[in-house]
Amino acid sequence: MSALPQYRKHLHPHEKMRAIVIEKYGGPDVLREASVPRPVPTRDQVLVRTRFIGVNPKDIIVRKGKFQVATGRRFPIIIGHDIAGEVVEAGVDADLAVGEAVYGMINDFAGRGYAEYAAVDADQLGRAPTSIDLRVAAAVPLAAQTALQALRDDGHVAQGHEVLINGASGGVGVFAVQIAKILGANVTAVCSHRNIELVRELGADQVIDYGKTELVSLDQRFDAIFDVFGNYRFDKLKHLLKPHGTYVHTIPSARIFKDVARTFVRKQRAKLVIVRSRRSQLDWLRQQIDSGRLRVVLDRSFPLRDVADAHRYMETKRARGKVVLEVD
Ligand SMILES: NC(=O)c1ccc[n+]([C@@H]2O[C@H](COP(=O)([O-])OP(=O)(O)OC[C@H]3O[C@@H](n4cnc5c(N)ncnc54)[C@H](OP(=O)(O)O)[C@@H]3O)[C@@H](O)[C@H]2O)c1
Repeated sequence: MSALPQYRKHLHPHEKMRAIVIEKYGGPDVLREASVPRPVPTRDQVLVRTRFIGVNPKDIIVRKGKFQVATGRRFPIIIGHDIAGEVVEAGVDADLAVGEAVYGMINDFAGRGYAEYAAVDADQLGRAPTSIDLRVAAAVPLAAQTALQALRDDGHVAQGHEVLINGASGGVGVFAVQIAKILGANVTAVCSHRNIELVRELGADQVIDYGKTELVSLDQRFDAIFDVFGNYRFDKLKHLLKPHGTYVHTIPSARIFKDVARTFVRKQRAKLVIVRSRRSQLDWLRQQIDSGRLRVVLDRSFPLRDVADAHRYMETKRARGKVVLEVD
């Protein structure tokens, strides 16, 4: 297959692979299996033989066509961002070797992850943790990097800070609780009654059952509030922030953009996390996982052919931790 130069970014005209594609935006039924050309890595990319794929709410947003401005209307589109697998081909400038086990997140808005192979910029991937298998590693990149960026880079969480995490039992939340603890914070986590024990086990110092306690009525004040579930807004929770506190939201909307802009020079800031995959972050996460400080909570896995069921499950918004697809 390498009659073609490795650095040319295109699809291989002869080799095929199995992928899940959408040919129009819509419900879970638009996801279908197809045989498509296998990508060829550019100079900076590696070709990954994908073993497991992480499912994220972003996949569902893309599938529904909610970000068509970014994802366009040139079908078929392969969606999906989180992958774990082995490098089977490397571009001349890529610093990962053939045979290495890798995990990471594809930064393109639509992704290209729901497939047997993905050509990915090497700096969006990292060496996979060695203490967990690839099924578990595929659950990490998007959610854990979101938590790390929101808390460390946007929220400036540091030793001794008081941190509130709303939506602590979902894909991002389970990492956020643990990462806030690793950064030295005192963590108050918010979830439903059925997840209190899980969130406590992950290290939360206080757990609030949102079915019993209204967040807005809390007496405590926080250095950072990470609204992972995103059902509040800055104005609703501002009174819970300390004078220099930061509120970090996850869902792009006109409202949050306005809040970000109008608090830009204020002491109390509103921010929107926009996750990007970076080697340095994946390496940091690998170290935390391999040293036993960061646990991955896997809710369930589905075979790739049952991807529509995996999406239906995610759409219940009741996942405990992460959901993955197995490329069987
Ligand atoms: N901007 C970015 O870069 C970025 C990156 C990643 C994710 N996100 C967004 O962040 C959000 C969360 O992502 P995720 O992967 O964590 O989602 P998820 O795994 O689907 O979240 C499911 C969790 O939400 C909890 N939940 C449901 N209703 C709740 C409520 N009223 N209050 C608090 N928690 C509630 C559930 O816990 P209970 O069953 O205990 O209620 C469940 O554990 C999504 O909207 C996603 O699109 C944005």
